[in-house]
Amino acid sequence: MKIGVFDSGLGGVSVLASLLQRFPQAHFLYYGDTANAPYGDKAPERVQAWSLAAYHHFLDRGAAAMVIACNSATSAAVEAVRAVAHIPVLGIEPALKTAVEQSRDEPIAVLATAMTIRGEKLRQLIRRFPERAAHIHPIACPGLADLIEAADYAGAQAYLADTVKPRLPAEGTPLFVLGCTHYSLIQPQIRQVFGAEARIFDGNAGLARHLRNRLPILDDAPATTPPRVEFFFTHDDERKARTARQLLQHASPPPGA
Ligand code: SIN
Repeated sequence: MKIGVFDSGLGGVSVLASLLQRFPQAHFLYYGDTANAPYGDKAPERVQAWSLAAYHHFLDRGAAAMVIACNSATSAAVEAVRAVAHIPVLGIEPALKTAVEQSRDEPIAVLATAMTIRGEKLRQLIRRFPERAAHIHPIACPGLADLIEAADYAGAQAYLADTVKPRLPAEGTPLFVLGCTHYSLIQPQIRQVFGAEARIFDGNAGLARHLRNRLPILDDAPATTPPRVEFFFTHDDERKARTARQLLQHASPPPGA
């Protein structure tokens, strides 16, 4: 059974790693829109058009579901794609609920692109925890996804130290809720800047559960060995596919993912 996984670039590979671990029997089609990445600073209408192009790519190849593994595209386009879709279309949601449940009064940093931070979806999510509102810090990180896309991990670490850290209270190690799938790829850099004990939450496990609920038949499909993944990038396809395969090899989903 084919599942389409869509991101603006490489960030969705972290989601793909979780899905592969949960559904080794599926055949994944990965679509990274590197010609237009990053999405976080683009107009929502353009992100909707690019997301629809990805949907048609998956539909033409017989996908049974589309997973939007990009918070910016989920925020701007999931409804627009669902409005035309003939298959289930799933978006990714930051794991704020889990972070709230596992914290006391530490600061909770929600890191995301400007598009996701401005979007109604994240506002609605934060409003579900009024008792913790004073502790939740949504932080827009323009430019961070570009550094990760360019594999500039030293630059990403400097960004965290210089741009993110000053915007958080000095007291208490913050919990991090990743509102951009690219940021899953810099968990070592987050721990380097904020301490090895920093707790980090992404939306990958929730998305895998959601996919299982929408397509229970996935569990019945016979396992394929080795798992099948096809990569497609709208720009710099071969090089990006090579990087994606390397990232996939090194990505180990966090415990409980
Ligand atoms: C971006 O394309 O700007 C980052 C992807 C994301 O928001 O998950």
